[in-house]
Amino acid sequence: MDSSDRYFTIAQISDFHVGRVIPFPSGEVDLFNQLVRTVDCLNALDPAPDVVMVTGDLVNHGKLDDYRRVRSQLGRLLMPYYLAAGNHDQRKSLIEVFNDHSYLKTSDGFLHYSLEDKPLRIVTLDTLEPGTHFGLLCKTRLDWLERILSEQPDRPTIIFMHHPPFETGMPYPDSLGMRGKQALGEIIRRNPQVEAISSGHSHRDASLRWNGTIAYTVPSSSFSYKLEFHEVDDLDPLLEPIACRIFRWDPSVGLVSHLNYIGPYEYGITEGVPEPPSA
Ligand SMILES: [Fe+2]
Ligand SMILES: [Fe+2]
Repeated sequence: MDSSDRYFTIAQISDFHVGRVIPFPSGEVDLFNQLVRTVDCLNALDPAPDVVMVTGDLVNHGKLDDYRRVRSQLGRLLMPYYLAAGNHDQRKSLIEVFNDHSYLKTSDGFLHYSLEDKPLRIVTLDTLEPGTHFGLLCKTRLDWLERILSEQPDRPTIIFMHHPPFETGMPYPDSLGMRGKQALGEIIRRNPQVEAISSGHSHRDASLRWNGTIAYTVPSSSFSYKLEFHEVDDLDPLLEPIACRIFRWDPSVGLVSHLNYIGPYEYGITEGVPEPPSA
């Protein structure tokens, strides 16, 4: 078996906020152009990721036209991609523009689903609560998750969702975080097959051992917010390097997470492997 059969890689990208143009002192940044860079970056990875998971806030105002612009770029991806909803998304518009994404058309109206044909089982949750920025998993959504996980308790699984299921320690984003974390945590604790939970929303990288799994947030592929552990009234957008997360699943190793910055960046000239320092 060659290495491409052994490994399964998932790229996670998040929080495009297309439709927003941010003024910075060095000039305006149209976040649509950040999405163009992101798609170029994923298409240039070698080997290419097997799938791309998009964890919400595709657009900034829920507008149909902006979803169409997002689709024009995601459609350039060389690999399949799957969507999750964030607090800036609108379920109806999202389904309308991505109407061939049949997994989004669920019987209960929530955009949650599982992908069963991958080496690592993928479960995506819907934490969108219309009219608010915080996230919620109501009883219907928690019951759905409990049932889905109980169907295959021995199958390694990764969960994607927009809102982080944990407190990051940053008061402002945490105030817009997810309600009902404890109920989710109890389900996760009963399901040790969950290798990881990965979310977006905070626009920063963070990770935590959480209820028997590892929980991550992925930076935005558009813009970040300052690492701010103080109470603040608002956060200004920050133009740090944008990034995605690459999960590499190898059953003999486990699930390795890599933070990958989205370029382009310049290469230098290697000096070769230096001699180790003498004792
Ligand atoms: Fe966001
Ligand atoms: Fe968000």
